Amino acid sequence: MNNLTEFDTLVIGSGAAGLTLALSLADKLNVAVISKSSLQESATLYAQGGVSAVIDQGDSIESHVADTMAAGSGLCNLDVVEFIVRQGRERIEWLIKQGVPFTTHQTRDGSIDFHLTKEGGHSRRRVVHAADATGRAIETALIDQVRAHPNISIFERHLAVDLISLGKLGAMPDRCVGAYVLDLDSNVVKSIGAKTCVLATGGAGKVYLYTSNPDVATGDGIAMAWRAGCSVANMEFVQFHPTCLYHPNAKSFLLTEALRGEGGRLLLASGEPFMHHYDERQELAPRDIVARAIDHEMKRSGAEHIYLDVSHKPAQFLREHFPTVLARCADFGIDITTQPIPAVPAAHYLCGGVLTDIHGQTSLPGLYAIGEVACTGLHGANRMASNSLLECLVIADACANSILQSAELVGATPDIPIWDESLVTDADEEIVVAHNWDELRRFMWDYVGIVRSNKRLERARNRVDLLHREISEFYGNFRISGDLIELRNLVQVAELIIRSALKRKESRGLHYTLDYPHTDDKNYARATVLRAGDFS
Ligand code: FAD
Ligand code: SIN
Repeated sequence: MNNLTEFDTLVIGSGAAGLTLALSLADKLNVAVISKSSLQESATLYAQGGVSAVIDQGDSIESHVADTMAAGSGLCNLDVVEFIVRQGRERIEWLIKQGVPFTTHQTRDGSIDFHLTKEGGHSRRRVVHAADATGRAIETALIDQVRAHPNISIFERHLAVDLISLGKLGAMPDRCVGAYVLDLDSNVVKSIGAKTCVLATGGAGKVYLYTSNPDVATGDGIAMAWRAGCSVANMEFVQFHPTCLYHPNAKSFLLTEALRGEGGRLLLASGEPFMHHYDERQELAPRDIVARAIDHEMKRSGAEHIYLDVSHKPAQFLREHFPTVLARCADFGIDITTQPIPAVPAAHYLCGGVLTDIHGQTSLPGLYAIGEVACTGLHGANRMASNSLLECLVIADACANSILQSAELVGATPDIPIWDESLVTDADEEIVVAHNWDELRRFMWDYVGIVRSNKRLERARNRVDLLHREISEFYGNFRISGDLIELRNLVQVAELIIRSALKRKESRGLHYTLDYPHTDDKNYARATVLRAGDFS
């Protein structure tokens, strides 16, 4: 079937943000959730550390706000930070109602309370978690609820290709009215109409060669929003997680920052610690500082990795608190209770994204963006650990309120033209797509990574321009496939990252360039916003 299907709300993406939103709307509206892989496949599923929230009696909203602002290097929006941080406890309680089994412990007075961990940038223990598989616990509980809800229609292996807007249909005023969606099993493009569309498509880690992200993180939502005319912000701020497992077969495996929160040390091959040379907070400095320090040490010594050592902790403690890390390392012959773990930094999180307000509203009416795909102003130039899941939960809830308030006002969805394939043929050279994927991810890693320079960025821009032209031609002439759509989106996101990085002629947070090694508050203490039409 490729004819029009219609819903009140179309949610694109099934991570923490998308599923929370769907559940918050479904008692009143009929909702479609589409997901390009299985419903559970998402960055959320792999989250280890947890969700930051002010829970401990000695903690305060002010302290969580101050730590977030400090990590964000002057670019966080204070109103947004306060709005999100204030709702931490309430959102954790909501998750518990959905069935998430957070780790608890017995306090000194015998009562049961959340067990809290500590991560980089946090001045206190503040991270609520389910051992070291917090994301899996959240995703599983939310999926159980979503599958049981009669008002939620689920479309797995359905990949959103592009948004449909009245402007593109030649009508005014402009408004998002649905999306073209590729059914990956039948290879048919369907159109789904909706009064409101929500991008909850997550991040874009796959734009880099080495990443902690799952394969679905190809920046589709950002690219779709950009093509639909939305503004994007802070795309130069790509977070590299300091510690992913270094092993040729250990694709994308993260070594949670909570390991350092429990006293884990970063060591050179000689066994020497080095973080004290870089920051007084040592292993628990914010991620930009730790990742740059590791990068520097690896380049200085020519080593392929450093080590993360947690063997000082009792084996029983590690088994209880880090079962996922322990088991995965054991798969590769590493016993973390006695041996240091080889580790390297990898692309982890995109602080920038589709520019939205605190309800997830984008600059296109009818289109919202929530979760990692969006840039609300919470993270500024560097996200503090475990603030992402919190943002997903809070903004999804605020977005639901905004959609429910305006639901009555939105008129019927117009007829949407069917996807036109009359002028395309089957691709004769799929190899072009595979090669271009590889080339893009390599030059992004080499030229737009942890340490940048004008020369490297210019090189990357030249290459991305070429790829852009080649992929546009391919897209225009051949029948689409999942790989082609994702590559087209990755190229678009890479271009936005490079263009934004070239605009910021200073070093701040996650953006470090050899040509401007200092922070320039006079000229650059503001977000980098790109608008449609800024470049073609
Ligand atoms: P995701 O969870 O990534 O979900 C995106 C969804 O969109 C997926 O279902 C995907 O298939 C779908 N999708 C994408 N494009 C399309 C398309 N074109 N059509 C249809 N569907 C599409 N943050 C924390 O706060 N705490 C942590 O402990 C933590 N640990 C992490 C560990 C790892 C290994 C990783 C990778 C990230 C971690 N993060 C953590 C970051 C956090 O997990 C993510 O930022 C967050 O889960 C993003 O949620 P989301 O709902 O926005 O997107
Ligand atoms: C981690 O567990 O180290 C990841 C936490 C995060 O990305 O917020």
